[in-house]
Amino acid sequence: MKTVAVLTSGGDSPGMNAALRAAAKTCAGRGVRLLGVREGFEGLIDGRMVEVVPGPCALLGEPGLDVLGSQGGTVLGSTRSARFREPDGRARAADALRSAGVDGLVVIGGNGSLTGAHLLAREHDVRVMGVPASIDNDIGCTSLAIGTDTALNTIVEACDHIDDTARAHRRAFVVEVMGRACGYLAMASSVAVGADAVLFREQQRDEDTLVRAVAGVVQQCFHRGKRRVLVIKAEGVEIPCTRLVRRVAEELGEVEIRAVVLGHIVRGGHPSFLDRMVSARLAYAAVVSLLEGASDEMVAWNTPLPGGVATSDGSVKRFTLERVLAETAALEDGTSPVMARRLQLLQQVEGVLPL
Ligand code: F6P
Repeated sequence: MKTVAVLTSGGDSPGMNAALRAAAKTCAGRGVRLLGVREGFEGLIDGRMVEVVPGPCALLGEPGLDVLGSQGGTVLGSTRSARFREPDGRARAADALRSAGVDGLVVIGGNGSLTGAHLLAREHDVRVMGVPASIDNDIGCTSLAIGTDTALNTIVEACDHIDDTARAHRRAFVVEVMGRACGYLAMASSVAVGADAVLFREQQRDEDTLVRAVAGVVQQCFHRGKRRVLVIKAEGVEIPCTRLVRRVAEELGEVEIRAVVLGHIVRGGHPSFLDRMVSARLAYAAVVSLLEGASDEMVAWNTPLPGGVATSDGSVKRFTLERVLAETAALEDGTSPVMARRLQLLQQVEGVLPL
C-alpha cells in the first residue's frame, strides 16, 4: 500500500483542517495510508507522524476530522522551523520520511513552507506537492490561498463594528490588517467595507506623504459631513499605527482619530464556505497528483497566469514550485503583472474612496 504524509507549516490559516480532512478522504478512498506530521517541518525532522483517517475517530485524543475540518487553526500544529532552514535539518526530514515508508509529502503552507518543500524535493528527491495556504494571499501562480477569504470576512466584520462606534462619536479610525509585506488584505477589504482610504507597502509612500494623505482624507470626509472616516492600513506599511494617528492628530488639531490593530484576530475563526471548498479541491488535486507521479509542484486555484498543467478540476492547475517561488518574488518586488494590475485598479478607485 502506498503512504502519503501531510503537514501544515508557517502561519496557520482557516481551511487547513478542511484540507487535511479532504486529503484523508481522498487517501482512504484510494486505499492509501495517510500520515499526519505534527508541528510542520519541525515535527518532520523528529519523525513525529500519526496515522490520519477520515470520519469521527479520534486523532491523538482530539475529536475526529468530521468536526475539526470545519474549525480554524490546524489540528496537526504548525511551526516556523529554524532547523529545517539548515541542510542538516532537511536531510534528517528526508530520512524520517524514508524510514516511515512515505511515497509522497503534501505541504500545506505559505511561501517559507513552499520554499522548504522545493528544497526537500531538489536536494533529497522527495516527492512533494504544495498546497497554498496563507491569509496574506501573497503566493505566486494562484489567485487565492487557503485562509484569505475567511481573513477578509473577519476584517469586514471588525470594520462594521468599528463603523458603528465611529459614527456615534464622529471619529476617524486607522485599522491595521495583517499581510506581512503584501497589501492584498488591505486592498481587497478596503473596497468591501467602503473605506475612505487604503495604505499599503506597494504604494511606496514615505512617512510624511502617508501622514499628509491620511490628514487630507480625514479633513475632506468630515468637511463633506461624513460621521466616520475609515482608513485601512496594511501591516507592511512600516509606520506604526499609533504614530501615524498621533501625527495626523497633530496636523489636524481638533479631529478625533483612533488606531486599531486587528493582528492575529484576522488569522483565526471558522473557515468560510469559499475557504472550505477551495481547501478541499486543492487537497484532493494535490494527493491525486502525487499518486499520479507529479512532484516539486504546487496546486493553484484559478490561476491568473498562462501555462501550468491542467487537473481534472477546471479551477485547479499545477505549477512547478520553481515558477511559483519566482512569481512570489515578483509579486513582492512589484515586477509581477498581477501586482501591476492590482495597483492599477486601486489607483483608479482611490479618488472615489473618500466620496
Ligand atoms: O503570514 C501570515 C501572517 O499572519 C502575517 O500576516 C503576519 O505578518 C505573520 O504571519 C505573523 O506571524 P506570527 O504569528 O509568527 O507572529
